[in-house]
Parts: sequence; structure tokens; C-alpha cells
Amino acid sequence: MAVDAARLAYRKWRLTPAPKRAEILFRAAELLVKRKEGFSRDMTREMGKVLAESRGDIQEAIDMTYYMAGEGRRLFGQTTPSELPDKFAMSVRQPIGVCGLITPWNFPMAIPSWKIMPALVCGNTVVLKPAEDTPLSSYNLVETLSEAGIPPGVVNLVSGGGSGAGAPLAKHKGVPVLSFTGSTTTGRIIAEKCAPDFKHYCLEMGGKNIILVMDDANLDLAIDGAIWGGFGTAGQRCTAASRIAVHKSVCKEFVARLVERARKLKIGNGLDPAVEMGPVINEQQLDTVMSYVEIGKNEGANLLTGGRRLEAGEFRKGWFHEPTVFGECDPKMRIAQEEIFGPVVSVIPVDSLEQGIEVANGVAYGLSASIYTRNVNGAFAAIQDLYTGIVYVNAPTIGAETHLPFGGTKQTGNGHREAAVAAIDFFTEWKSVYIDHSDKLQRAQIDNN
Ligand code: UN1
Repeated sequence: MAVDAARLAYRKWRLTPAPKRAEILFRAAELLVKRKEGFSRDMTREMGKVLAESRGDIQEAIDMTYYMAGEGRRLFGQTTPSELPDKFAMSVRQPIGVCGLITPWNFPMAIPSWKIMPALVCGNTVVLKPAEDTPLSSYNLVETLSEAGIPPGVVNLVSGGGSGAGAPLAKHKGVPVLSFTGSTTTGRIIAEKCAPDFKHYCLEMGGKNIILVMDDANLDLAIDGAIWGGFGTAGQRCTAASRIAVHKSVCKEFVARLVERARKLKIGNGLDPAVEMGPVINEQQLDTVMSYVEIGKNEGANLLTGGRRLEAGEFRKGWFHEPTVFGECDPKMRIAQEEIFGPVVSVIPVDSLEQGIEVANGVAYGLSASIYTRNVNGAFAAIQDLYTGIVYVNAPTIGAETHLPFGGTKQTGNGHREAAVAAIDFFTEWKSVYIDHSDKLQRAQIDNN
């Protein structure tokens, strides 16, 4: 039904001039600005991250919506000389059709906006299937778009689980484009569903991101970064810093201070402005986190702080877990290799920058990496050799902005990027156009040689 509505609406929407489509997006961005506070509170109540972070999530949606509204007057192609006289050559972008969008619960408005806004400005229509845990934030976004003037059928919201709603969307014959953010395991299933019909599909999947702390780093800064990168959103970001490789000469001091800070983090209800870390999303996620704590202990990593579920008093009402730090991790341990998606950080001592980069690259994922150093040569070596989609210098692994490409290498993605012009590339097909105004047959590659 939703796909049928989207297919019908596509007939008109693809022919609506892009600057007109963009005006609607611009109005939606203006409305989001007005509603930011209310939507942020809804989001914190819905998924638990602290209010400041929910505000950041809505702001990311606002940024993306303004950005893509601007694209309505660009959507640039190329004009280029032909090899033949009196012949004109250009390339233009064309929309593709109905886009199926499957989004996760950790950024319940930002990530849908990364997909919806570029899809729409390019002239596609969409069917959004958000995570079951966070339907309200998606509803708030879609409702805002509709109030801004998106015609009926252009944006459709369906709810349900992976097998009931996600899989049917991924294999629907009327959906030529599929964009997914979530786990690598689910991404692989989606890829299999898309492959028989040669759909275009963009997968944004897991991460095992790292912060490298070198011996010349500003340790105060590095600790701030590690706390924010590791425990922001309770570690439930695909960009979370779940590994910290620290130069041996500063490791002892760094770890002692990191542990002290982690212990002091105020955990609780994200609506309380004093709270720094909320719960994890649901019981299943909590079980995953707790099982990795056991795995880490059994592998011989040194549990320095945390490691337990919080259940006393107020905490009984939610899925809270202590900020957890493992020290002296071997880079091959499972806690240092596998995505946990919770407040668990593994510290890996290293002897040099070279070894740090080797450790960084020695995982199946390649989303984000960061280095803290004051050495410009070392920083540039890291930029060059870290095989990830995103690199930060003297900043943590989280905090991507909407006008740069977002995504990762290896099992994090399938070669596409979200955000920025990269998203426009994904949501359009190129059409190369040749206009011969010579009034005669001119054979390329033949008549001019
Ligand atoms: C995600 O975790 O899926 O860079 C997205 C960041 C955010 C987006 C994270 N801007 O951490």
C-alpha cells in the first residue's frame, strides 16, 4: 500500500522543479527549528539519550534539511566539449523512483533525515521504516514534512519489525532503491534481498572505532574525548569510540584518569539536565552489553571500572549499565574486535604510532578513527594510513557534520556515503545527453580520426 502510494506520487513529484521541491524542505527545516525543544523531549523519553544529545539529533536533521534545500538550486551535472564539431554534451541527474529507507533507533530523527531529504530533493518518493523502538521521532519528522507541504504519497511511514516490514520493503519489486542503517548482520540480509533485482542499495553498518592517544597528546583533551566518544549516547553510536589505543609511556596516567572520570559520570533519566548518560535502548541491548562484559573478563582483560547493570532504586525502571572500562586489552580479543553498542571501552596499550595504526586497521570495520597528538607529521601519517571513512585529529570519533560524506570502509559499508553531495550521488542516476546540431551523421570515434 505504502509503496503503491509512493509510486503514484512519484509520477508528479519527479516533474516538480527541484527548486520547488526544495522550498518545501526549507519550510520543513524552519518548522523543525520551531519544534526542536518539544521533539527533543519526545526523543529522550522515547530512546533515553540525554536531552542535550537529543537536541543535537534534531539539529542534525535541521542541518540536513537546510543543506538539501540548498541543493534544489544546484543538483549540478557537467557540460563538457564533444569530440565532434557542432555537438553538445552534458550530464544531468535523474531521480530513480521509490526509495525504501530503513533506519535505526539511536539517531531517530537525524538518520531518517539523512535519507529522506536527499531522496526528496532529487525527485524520488520514499517509504520510511524506522526502528520499532523509536516510531515517535520518525512520526514527528514525517508529520513536519507533511505540514510543510509535501504532497500526499511522497513520504510514507510504515511501522513494524525487520521480517514484517523491513524485508518486504527490501525485496519489493516497486522499490528500486534501498538505504539502510543498522547492524552488519541485518545489512547482509538486506543486500541479499536487493541483489536479485539489482537494486541500488546503500548500507551503513557497524563500527569498532578507535582513539589513538600518542605520547605527546594533550591528555586532558584526550580524556574529554574518550569520555564523550566512549560513553556519549551510552556508547550506542556506530561512531562510538569503543577502543582506545594509548602509547605505553602515558598509558598508566591516562587510564587512571579515564577511570576516575568514568566513575563520576552521572547516570539516570536523560530529561534531568545534570545527567550525563542515559540507559541503553532495551533489554536485549542490555543483555548484549552484559554478555560482552563476561566475554572480556573471560578473555583476561582487566575490568577497571563498571561491568554491572544498575538496578537499585530508580534504575529498576530502565535498562541502565555502568560506564565500563577494560584495561590491558589485546587487540585480538573479542571485546576489542566486535561491535558492542554500549558503554564499554577497551584500552589497548601500544608502543608507537605505527603499531597504533596497525591495531586501528586490524578490525573488520572502518567507520571512524581519531588521533590525539601535537605532532603534525604523526597526525598526517594517521590521516593517510587509517583505513576508515572518517578521521578526526584532536577530537573524538563522533561528531560528523552533514555537509561532509558519512560512511565507512570494509564491513561498515558497501562503498556508498551518506550526507553531503555523496547522498545526491546515491539517490540519482546519471544521464549523459548528446545533442548533435551539425545536421549530419557524425560517428564518434570514427569520423574525427
Ligand atoms: C550513528 O551513530 O549512526 O558523528 C550516526 C556522529 C553523529 C552521527 C552518528 N553525527 O556521531
